[in-house]
Amino acid sequence: MIEHQIVVTRRPPGEAIAILESQALVWMWDQDRPIERDVLLHRIGSASGLYCMLTDRIDEELLDAAALLTVVSQMAVGVDNIDLKACRRRNIKVGHTPNVLTETTADLAFGLMLAAARRFKEGARDVSDGTWGEWDPNYLVGQDVHASTLGIIGFGRIGQAVARRAVGFGMGILYTQRNRNDQSIATFTTLDDLLKRSDHVIVAAPLTAQTHHLIGASSLARMKPTATLINIGRGQLVDQRALYQALTSGDIWAAGLDVTDPEPISPDHPLVTAPNCYITPHLGSATVRTRAEMAEMAARNLVAGLRGEPLEAEVDGEIDAASHA
Ligand code: DGY
Repeated sequence: MIEHQIVVTRRPPGEAIAILESQALVWMWDQDRPIERDVLLHRIGSASGLYCMLTDRIDEELLDAAALLTVVSQMAVGVDNIDLKACRRRNIKVGHTPNVLTETTADLAFGLMLAAARRFKEGARDVSDGTWGEWDPNYLVGQDVHASTLGIIGFGRIGQAVARRAVGFGMGILYTQRNRNDQSIATFTTLDDLLKRSDHVIVAAPLTAQTHHLIGASSLARMKPTATLINIGRGQLVDQRALYQALTSGDIWAAGLDVTDPEPISPDHPLVTAPNCYITPHLGSATVRTRAEMAEMAARNLVAGLRGEPLEAEVDGEIDAASHA
């Protein structure tokens, strides 16, 4: 007999719903936008499982309304939208989806770095505006990626996958994070040293209270004027006002952002209009295969939790900058 009820905050791809329905009664917000807060607050009251997205705020207010909740399963690796301490106080397990999105997200990071360094945005604009003229030796010259130095901030799974790609480009690789990984293909250093020495800086750290605005005016001032900054973590890791200042004053060369604060960012935002800032709309894990794998893993996590079994990937304890990106 079906006894568990699950709330699903957005239709996931792949076989996720079938996996959930095999074990429980599923109520799903089946609209093409994030669930309305009031609806979630109402529905969560009878649910023992919550299948959620990074656009949902899982906070004290929601958990107070969730008397029966035992498992929260998010279809994402990042869980900065979830109050983990509040979940722990209530013995609610939290699952997420590491590993399955690592390589896909690293591909996007590399693409952003190439786009920013080699001025794809300005090039594409000129082609579509009809302002692409005769071949010109000085036209849209960019910065090399091959054989340059890459600095990776946050050397978790995704940071390491970026480093593996960088080896093929003959790059020297520096990294910084809380815990050193001496086995790695990259050299550990301090944030300051990494910023000074890197030609391209990729931010792949999780968002925590400690990493909020990790890259601000003083970090940007340490970077080379020829350097690019790439952010694939969360928008709040970078102080966008300081970034705009650095991009327009020539303190750094260009930026590539897959995440912004807020999301979506307004089309009038100065960073959107800046020619040397290339923004993609949070596409890191967005391939057909990876999104289906994330969705199904989140479903398996939820089902396992409801059965009282270990989750395939449970977020445990404090979010560790080393392990969750
Ligand atoms: C995640 O999983 O945290 C990503 O941001 C989603 O692409």
